[in-house]
Amino acid sequence: MHVLHVVGARPNFMKVAPVHAALAKRGTRQTLVHTGQHYDAAMSDVFFEQLGIPQPDVNLGVGSGTHSVQTAEVMKRLEPVIVERRPDWVLVYGDVNSTVAAALVCAKLRVQVAHVEAGLRSRDRSMPEEINRLVTDQLADLLLTPSDDGDANLLAEGIPRERIRCVGNVMIDTLVSLRRAADDAWPRLRDQHQLDRYLLLTLHRPSNVDDPDKLLPIVETLIDISRQLPVLFPIHPRTREALASLRFAPPSSFVLLEPLAYIDFLALQAHAAGVITDSGGIQEETTFLGVPCLTMRENTERPVTVSIGTNMLIGNDLGRLRDEVRAIAEGRGKRGGVPPLWDGHAAERIADVLR
Ligand code: UD1
Repeated sequence: MHVLHVVGARPNFMKVAPVHAALAKRGTRQTLVHTGQHYDAAMSDVFFEQLGIPQPDVNLGVGSGTHSVQTAEVMKRLEPVIVERRPDWVLVYGDVNSTVAAALVCAKLRVQVAHVEAGLRSRDRSMPEEINRLVTDQLADLLLTPSDDGDANLLAEGIPRERIRCVGNVMIDTLVSLRRAADDAWPRLRDQHQLDRYLLLTLHRPSNVDDPDKLLPIVETLIDISRQLPVLFPIHPRTREALASLRFAPPSSFVLLEPLAYIDFLALQAHAAGVITDSGGIQEETTFLGVPCLTMRENTERPVTVSIGTNMLIGNDLGRLRDEVRAIAEGRGKRGGVPPLWDGHAAERIADVLR
């Protein structure tokens, strides 16, 4: 069996790492294609190093562009690679533009596609990722879901039961395997930031950062909150660009950082009093870690993080954000459990299903 993986953006890298390792352990022939959607060392290279992913066999170097341009460039450059290498399976991950582009190419070439992290739905088609999820799942031959709400969503969309396998959450595999490295990194980070109790913040969704009239009140509120609990804010390139157009003077309690490598970010999550985010994966990681998470979105494609885990949807209700941060500061943050099959062995199950 020859498996070809397609990855492109930061949240893909934590997902491919354990699957690649599990297949390598079984002696499977593998090819790794990086589309180059994310290209900065801090958004890409450092993840390959820390997660032990081998150097990509092919880098398509697509870079940035509008959604259509980015998707089309991946399709154009990936097609000859698939034609030439003729894998038995192509594995695509998550919901980024590279994912849907690869699924389209393979569907037309009649090469089998497996989608890792299938079935998630926010039911919000204004999110580009939701379009990517819907299309990818319609095209995939094998749908590997992280939780059983994914199975239910796919069945409701008419996907045959025999194509769906609930395998658990591969991101949690990576977290489990690097937990000890994160614990080792913590003393250095604590000394560097001189902080024991803090909030960790990430923001990059177009719906929060692209419109300055929306972003400014969010930032002002977060700065205010940082006077109660200091805020560490590693900044995504999209957000850095958006912030450059705003006038604000961050106090020393609002710490702006470059994007962090996986291990440092995990260490800061694990030790945070709470996390404020609009990311998808961070909602899952905080649930696993038992750290309260306030998600600045109206909806989530990961509802088990709310029903079982520590996640709360805050939307853009900044009053509610302040209230929930106060609860965290007073030790009344949301507690929760860990969903089934988020156990560090999802990639092993994927390798078994493929075999
Ligand atoms: C993409 C994914 C999103 C994921 C996010 C995580 C899609 C539709 N979106 O959004 O699901 O949560 O990645 O990071 O695929 N940039 C850099 N350096 C980089 C990468 C990007 O400077 O290494 C800049 C780009 O030039 C662009 C901006 O950041 O201006 C956005 O990048 P893009 O890949 O378009 O989307 P993301 O917002 O990162």
